[in-house]
Amino acid sequence: MRTHYCGLIDESLIDQTVTLCGWVNTLRLQSHVAFVDLRDHEGLAQIVIERDNAAAFAVAGEIGNEYCLRVTGTLRKRLAVNDKLKTGTVELLADTVEVLNAAKDLPFALHESPNEDMRMTYRYLDLRRPEMQAMMRKRIKLVQALRRYLDERGFQDVETPILTKATPEGARDYLVPSRVHPGQFYALPQSPQLFKQILMMAGFDRYYQIARCFRDEDLRADRQPEFTQLDLEFAFVEEKDVQDFVEELIRHVFRDVQGVELAASFPRMTWAEAMRRFGSDKPDLRIALELVDIAEAVKHVDFKVFAEPANDAGGRVAALRVPGGSALSRKDIDGLTEYVSRYGAKGLAWLKVEDMAKGREGINSPVAKFLDDAALDGVLEATGAQSGDIVFFGAGRWKTVTDFMGALRLKVGKDRGLVENSWKPLWVTDFPMFEYDSEEQRYVALHHPFTAPKIDDVADLRANAMNAVSRGYDMVLNGNEIGGGSIRIHRPEMQSAVFELLGIGAAEAEAKFGFLLKALKFGAPPHGGLAFGIDRIAALMAGTESIRDVIAFPKTTSAQCLMTDAPSPIAAPQLKELHVQVLGGEASGA
Ligand code: AMO
Ligand code: AMP
Repeated sequence: MRTHYCGLIDESLIDQTVTLCGWVNTLRLQSHVAFVDLRDHEGLAQIVIERDNAAAFAVAGEIGNEYCLRVTGTLRKRLAVNDKLKTGTVELLADTVEVLNAAKDLPFALHESPNEDMRMTYRYLDLRRPEMQAMMRKRIKLVQALRRYLDERGFQDVETPILTKATPEGARDYLVPSRVHPGQFYALPQSPQLFKQILMMAGFDRYYQIARCFRDEDLRADRQPEFTQLDLEFAFVEEKDVQDFVEELIRHVFRDVQGVELAASFPRMTWAEAMRRFGSDKPDLRIALELVDIAEAVKHVDFKVFAEPANDAGGRVAALRVPGGSALSRKDIDGLTEYVSRYGAKGLAWLKVEDMAKGREGINSPVAKFLDDAALDGVLEATGAQSGDIVFFGAGRWKTVTDFMGALRLKVGKDRGLVENSWKPLWVTDFPMFEYDSEEQRYVALHHPFTAPKIDDVADLRANAMNAVSRGYDMVLNGNEIGGGSIRIHRPEMQSAVFELLGIGAAEAEAKFGFLLKALKFGAPPHGGLAFGIDRIAALMAGTESIRDVIAFPKTTSAQCLMTDAPSPIAAPQLKELHVQVLGGEASGA
């Protein structure tokens, strides 16, 4: 149909007959000549249609943006070179112009940034935009590079089931009713976790899969209900084996796809340190600001807001010094106070050091009056505050303060342009095994229930469960959790004990995970692995905040596909066949 791609024509083709196909990007119709910028997935080519060519010129008069054309003509040198265009030194003098398909008036102009709903409804138009093409191609290159690396190193690419039994990763399951087994359901996998572990027990040694995962959870810019992991598992390994391998893999793909050389060795930080210094389990190390604990300095003050949590083992009083921050206005501070309230903060005390030399006189703060000299000096010393700085304070429950001060650190860092332009990967390790879920009122696994504890002995684990540290690890890049994994439990007694500690009784464990417990009894090897969030890595590489930009057909934040209109009602006969009855309403009558 065509001889060349629009975006690839060049001077080597001058005087040759060339046929191009593509979409009308722009059209300039003049009295004697028409110019069309024709676009395909490689780029743009200028087409010239002269009035002398009556048939072609007539077509030019009828077409509009995004018409789909096929043009044959002779390639020639351009008189006025366009340096902005890759093909800017040449143009195609049209002989014939054929309309392959007309286009209606567009719902939005492709060169503008349309609103999100429009983009999702007309995703095929949105994806035609060159910036979307570039972002999607970044993802494709990433996946190719990952596969190539793993294939060359002997990893086995094994597909695992989509219709399966629930594999918990902390989200709700998507369920599929069974027609032949009334009242029974498959679950879509939240990850291939149990299958990959069983593949290790089955002797595959090193596995990978580009795996689709399904999680019914609250969505955000970096979360989709279905997303893609690079899932990896290794037999006969310890933490360092997995970490060294995947670190090298990530360095390789960043070099290959992004032209970026990441650190030769990623720093490691325990979860406790990350929470203490950065108020996050995925610290963005591009921002130099750090939290400082000041409980010691304020334990004795009369100000209850500080003194109570400072004297309570479950409390925290933390300070964040922002250099140059005394320039912040009352309005700025009110804005930040409102911002942290979304993370549960009841207030946000602050202290501006206007002039260090003037001592107390040089301090501007609504809480200074509550701090005696010892407390004030203690705070200034702990934070290292200097003239011109502001110090923010968070006080209250440990978790709340850590969360809101971590969020404040990011917000202030971004607002004040303190984010270094660089790539800062790190490992976060030594996570607690268990975390109390106040909504469910029970302990839950911080990673997943198959993660091994550092304590190897079942009785010791039982005795120290709530302080137990896991063999889990996350890879973090610029404040994003891009991958998570662990060394797994490979002994049935330990797996049963962990289920029990999670409040999963023997009968429930047998019903849900009996197959795993059974498989562990047949010489299961020590094993471990990790899964990367491909969408997140692709988004980082593409320089976009939202993983929707690197997913061809993503869902909205309310888990809908606006293009196909999924989810949608199911007709009554089909529901009946599936033995499903919809509560509180009729199924669609269709
Ligand atoms: P985890 O739940 O940490 O681990 O997931 C691994 C990585 O997948 C990405 N990710 C997501 N990306 C987009 N949308 C989502 N809703 C979403 N949820 C997670 C993140 C995350 O780091 N089975 C374990 C892995 C293992 O232990 O080997 C697992 O799924 O980048
Ligand atoms: P209050 O005594 O509640 O009026 O608070 C006095 C000051 O402490 C105000 O500046 C509040 O913003 C601040 N404040 C109140 N609660 C907290 C908190 N949990 N953490 C940090 N500052 C707080």
